Formats: sequence, structure tokens, C-alpha cells
Amino acid sequence: MLTRRGFAGVGFAALAGRMLPEAAYAQRAAIQGKLPADMVWLNANENPDGPPRSSIEAMTKVLPEGGRYHYQEFRDFYETLARSEDLAPEQILVGAGSSEVLHAAIDAFTSPTCPLITVAPTYEGPVELARRGLGRNVVQVTLEPPYVPDVKKLVAEADKAGGGVIYLCNPNNPTSSVTPKKDLAWMVDNLPPKTMLLIDEAYSHFADTPDFESALGYVRQGKNVVVTRTFSKIYGMAGLRAGFGCASPELIARMAPFRNNVISIVTERAVLAALAESKILIPERRAKFIRVRRELCDWLRDRAVPYIEPQGNFMMIDVGRDAREFISAMPLKGVAVGRPFPPLNNFLRVTIGTDSDMAKFREVFWSVYKS
Ligand SMILES: Cc1ncc(COP(=O)(O)O)c(C=O)c1O
Repeated sequence: MLTRRGFAGVGFAALAGRMLPEAAYAQRAAIQGKLPADMVWLNANENPDGPPRSSIEAMTKVLPEGGRYHYQEFRDFYETLARSEDLAPEQILVGAGSSEVLHAAIDAFTSPTCPLITVAPTYEGPVELARRGLGRNVVQVTLEPPYVPDVKKLVAEADKAGGGVIYLCNPNNPTSSVTPKKDLAWMVDNLPPKTMLLIDEAYSHFADTPDFESALGYVRQGKNVVVTRTFSKIYGMAGLRAGFGCASPELIARMAPFRNNVISIVTERAVLAALAESKILIPERRAKFIRVRRELCDWLRDRAVPYIEPQGNFMMIDVGRDAREFISAMPLKGVAVGRPFPPLNNFLRVTIGTDSDMAKFREVFWSVYKS
């Protein structure tokens, strides 16, 4: 059986060329040794609440019908999903997690002469796929405090290359900081020719600042922008693998050949059930996350521990020394935390979990911090 621990030994070289989800990257924290049975997993930006009850019921109901492909349902599925974002079905592409859609975008829009341009650190998936999987040139502009992307530099790099894909994760993983909406607007207005803006909004539901604005408005205006969204985070369906991309019909048509297939009917039904109650579900879950996140920020501030103001379901804490010390010590005391994110070597990424998860995090974190 492949356990969370066992997976660490698989090795990433064998998987190069495919875009891995967060959980696979999380294994880089190389959790070793005998782990406590009641381990708290705050290492992969997952949602401890899991899928809503309505989704579980819908999945249970469709399981006996799993012998059929159910392809005929997918037209309606696309319509419902597109409508939920005020888009047309031709403006979306569904994938096994947003990983698959990001993969399709990078396949479709980078080339030997069109690099991937992004910040550092950011979500490794697109960077590794482009560099190691496809052999593309990758240009990374280092994030400086307050960890807001320098959009002028990103655009200048695209201009210098004669076009490319600018990938921005907003809010950014791992810094949990946002690209302010005025900077996003400037970038859209100043995109060089042959340049595509790929905005990864995996964590958009957790942002709580007037500086944040979804880039979906630019998709609706037909700009050269692709937005990716996922059901892995606020919807709590990371293991079910569903996400989607939003763009003009022309851009979607260019990405579609790189997508694998339809998603599982089980996941499709789970998504439909969750969408049906999203107007209540999302605000409820969002409010809870924001409260738990705020409580952790207050606790750190009271102890004069610096952190980056968080806008995702995770945050970066400045531990004042190499964070790898925490990454290896904390699991042995029952709390798994994020992997290293160079060049921010003194920062520890922690996912926001339940109240009891965070109580345990505080206890274990403090014992390592004070040692
Ligand atoms: C920024 C970002 N984008 C995309 C993904 C991919 O997630 P999924 O494929 O589960 O939608 C992740 C995973 O955590 C992520 O952190």
C-alpha cells in the first residue's frame, strides 16, 4: 500500500513531465521516522472539512452506475459550471484538478521561443512542467517584501522574449500574498504581443482584502487571459480531482487537445451538488477559514513572530532561522507542515486547519521555536 510516508520514496524524476498536485510536492518535506497516529496534516493546503454532505450523497448515489461512461451528461455539466461563473460553455475547460488545465495551458502556449515567466517562489507545478517536462525557458522574478509581484518586470521580460506566458498565482502559493487589482489591470493593458496571462486562482475564495480581484472579468472581456480554478480547496475535494480553466473560446480550443479526458462521473456529480449550494457553502466556509487564520495571526503577533499577511488557506511564518529545522522536527511531534520554499529559507508554510488542528500546531510550533 502506498502510504503518505511511502510515497516520499517514489522519487520525482520518474514523474517529471507531468504536473503534480500539491500533495505530491508536499512530500518534499520528506517526513521520516515513526509518525504519531493522530498526525495533523497542515502540509498540503487541503481543506479538513472535505466535500459537503450533498456531494457525498450524490457520489454514493451514482456509484452503482459507474459501469457507464455517462458522456451524455457532460454537456449539461459544462453549461452549469460555466453559468456559475457567468461564462458560456465554450469559455471553460474542465480537468482532473486545475493541475490538468494548467498543464494544458503551458503545453498550448509556451514553446521553444515562448518562455514561462513568473515570480519566485511560486507554485512549483507550472515551473517544473515547463522547465523539466517540456524543456522550456523559465524566467523567474524574485518576490521581495511585501511579496507583491513586480508586474513591470514581468511584462518587460515577456517583451524581451518577444512573447511568452506570464504565470501568476493569485493569491500566491506559498507567500499567500495577492497581486493588487490595479497591478493586474496594468498588466492586462500592457501585455506585449504574443503574451498570455495565466492566472491561477486556486485560493481566490480565501482572499479578504479590497486589493484582490478575480481576473475572470478580463476573460469575460475577451482579453488574452486564462484563469484556472479548482474544487480542491474551498470545496474540499482535493482527492476527487476537479478544476477548470476559463478563457475565450479561441484560447480554450487551443488548450483542449492537451487535456486528457472527461473527469469521473463520481466527481462530476459531487461538483454539481456542491455548486447547487455554493451560495451558502462558500460564504460559510470562507468566514470560518478567515476567523481561524486571523486567530493564528493574532497569536503570532502577540509573541512578536513575524509573518506575511495571509490571503490564502495557508500562511508563511518567519521563524528567524532555517525553516527545515521545523519541517523535520514538527512531524515527529504530530504536526506536518509545508516544504521548503527557497529562496525564502527562513519561512515556514502552514495550512489553516480546524480549531483543534491549530491548537496543536501552536503547541508544537512553540516548543520547536523556543528550543
Ligand atoms: C497554486 C496552486 N495551483 C494549482 C494547484 C493544483 O491543485 P489541483 O490540481 O488540486 O486543482 C495547487 C495545489 O495545491 C496550487 O497550490
